[in-house]
Amino acid sequence: MLCCVRMSSARQNPPPAGNLSSGMNDNLHQLRCFGCGARLKGADARPDFRCALCADLFEVEYPGWGERRGSDRPNPGALKWLWRERRCSSEALDRSGVWRFRELLPILDSFGDAVTLIEGNTPLYHLTRAAKTLGIDQLFAKHQGMNPTGSFKDTGMTAAMSVAKERGFEWVACASTGNTSAAMAAYAARAGLRSLVLIPDGKIAWGKLSQAMDYGAVTCQLKADFDGCLRLLTQIVNEAPIYLLNSVNPYRLEGQKTPAFEIAEAFDWNVPDHLIVPGGNLGNSSALGKGFRELHELGLVARMPRISVIQAAGANPLVRSFAENDGTALEPVEAHTRATAIRIGNPASWRKAARAIQDTGGWCLDVTEAEIAIAKAELGAEGLGCEPASAVTLAGLKKLRAKGVVDSGETVVLVLTGHTLKDADYTIDFHRGTLLKEEETVGLEAEIDGLRRNARAVDATPAAVLATLKDRMG
Ligand code: F0G
Repeated sequence: MLCCVRMSSARQNPPPAGNLSSGMNDNLHQLRCFGCGARLKGADARPDFRCALCADLFEVEYPGWGERRGSDRPNPGALKWLWRERRCSSEALDRSGVWRFRELLPILDSFGDAVTLIEGNTPLYHLTRAAKTLGIDQLFAKHQGMNPTGSFKDTGMTAAMSVAKERGFEWVACASTGNTSAAMAAYAARAGLRSLVLIPDGKIAWGKLSQAMDYGAVTCQLKADFDGCLRLLTQIVNEAPIYLLNSVNPYRLEGQKTPAFEIAEAFDWNVPDHLIVPGGNLGNSSALGKGFRELHELGLVARMPRISVIQAAGANPLVRSFAENDGTALEPVEAHTRATAIRIGNPASWRKAARAIQDTGGWCLDVTEAEIAIAKAELGAEGLGCEPASAVTLAGLKKLRAKGVVDSGETVVLVLTGHTLKDADYTIDFHRGTLLKEEETVGLEAEIDGLRRNARAVDATPAAVLATLKDRMG
């Protein structure tokens, strides 16, 4: 059941909210190494955000939240009230779907420094047709492609770019399969910072590349894959005063955890049973896991949803890791998939994502190129375009349903991560029938034909146009 949260017309006084920080003293965080537990002040992290002791990544932690009666521990009832009130505010910070929840990401010295494009507050759509086909009553899509630069990266970028600006950096940088660079370039431009983008030559969708150029980034196309670009950038930031904005930066994940809050709020704080997320560098699944874990630990929700991660079969290192050693070690793979956003063989945040899956009893599985293309066309046919990487979620759910591990009574949310216009070439190639090779579609030809809608060359007369409708009219 989806409960729509509306403002009540009579405004009530809020209950006491604990430290509802605003203005000065907003910063209540420290960093904790995910591997060895070492703790640091935020400003003391190395430029590559790796632990000096064990080389693992950091997570942002809020010490006051651990104490049941601590003055820094937020009051759940007050927070829910406050966040709902802010939906009627005209302040930029309140209109951002990230900073609306700022009590749960007190990472800045002053929230006045936040760099925002009014991100977040993305729509949650009921997927009626796919639900019917799959025999699931409650199937939803949280469309993160409806963010200002067209992907979920904006929610993380507003957070980490704000930190970069507050700490006085002039240059920021990322390696990217495209969306991170689009988001970073836009937020850097808003913040008045310069940005450097490293992307794999020829393996990035045009829509994304055009954004990085338009927003003024210095864009370098390297003869390397994403993993190679990130490796090189790590060396660069260790040598030059450039702030790294890949999702190894723990502040990115603080912004990216906020869709968990939006989802919980949309269901009136009764979390859905199951959340399905695409897996690339594995920052997003980690962030959503952290978001739901914090809501649970703070008493805002009674449980966590299952979190399942879906990868492309040609870029599936985490799937292999679960199959081979229950997610305790990861062997990098050479990645190949037309879903270029998730063409990643050595995901940085794999340990955090493995924890999200393990803590919540979720699954990790992969889907083929044909399954991705079909799922994307099915979502499109429901009026919900998305990137190929986003469509792995529906393809994965179909597999989980076929395995019998998802119940018909479950409430399921697919996280659609990118806008369909990011990679229009992929969509056109699918509908023209030039996307997939014959050997990839064996046994699926009829299904694919039923979904293809190629444009037709037609004479400019009413009769000719109406003739094209003949076979479609009942
Ligand atoms: N979906 C889209 C549209 C993406 O752009 C990405 C990652 C993912 C899913 C996977 O998310 O990496 O957090 O597991 N894109 C990155 C980029 C790598 O550079 O834009 P993840």
